[in-house]
Amino acid sequence: MKLGILISGRGSNFQAIADSIAAGALDAQIAVVISNRADAPGLEIARSRGLRAVCIPSKGLDREVYDGLVLAELAACGVELVCLAGFMRLLSAAFVRAYPNRILNIHPSLLPAFPGLDAQRQALEHGVRIAGCTAHMVDENLDSGPILVQATVPVLDDDTVETLSARILIEEHRIYTEAIRLAIRGQYRIEGRRIIFQ
Ligand code: GRF
Repeated sequence: MKLGILISGRGSNFQAIADSIAAGALDAQIAVVISNRADAPGLEIARSRGLRAVCIPSKGLDREVYDGLVLAELAACGVELVCLAGFMRLLSAAFVRAYPNRILNIHPSLLPAFPGLDAQRQALEHGVRIAGCTAHMVDENLDSGPILVQATVPVLDDDTVETLSARILIEEHRIYTEAIRLAIRGQYRIEGRRIIFQ
């Protein structure tokens, strides 16, 4: 299974996926890592691992035009499953249609709570006792789409955004691999919003 990984920054989820593949825990290969930002540290990490790493700058481009460029790169690399890993852009309808149920995302909250930016800060400020992360299929809406895997972590009294984010990130790295494995295995059906595993 050829993966295309889309990033905008640090790339720790991308690295976790690459580590899972290297460890034999995920039967896949990373065909390309694409960033919309040239300064994304994840791009350099991808290059240092000998992976194809491409920057396609999004600044100033219409969403459809930009998504067309990304889709062309994914197609040229034979990508079958797209993994958003800190990719800070909404996808167009055309993009989502090109990979039906074949685009995954990781989000640092227990969706549908706290979608969007600064999810960990939102959770902390709301005062929730349990936080977590969600790996889900991507549709045209923000942090929406059927849920594959979730994990919880406690919120501690002395937590800051940084300490809570770090605790959640450990779970992100674990469940993203699990979600990709489930998506590759393909033994599920979707009923409404629910993914039923067989
Ligand atoms: C992660 O917290 C992810 O859940 C969110 O953006 C962050 C990306 O981190 N979508 P990284 O680039 O994978 O380190």
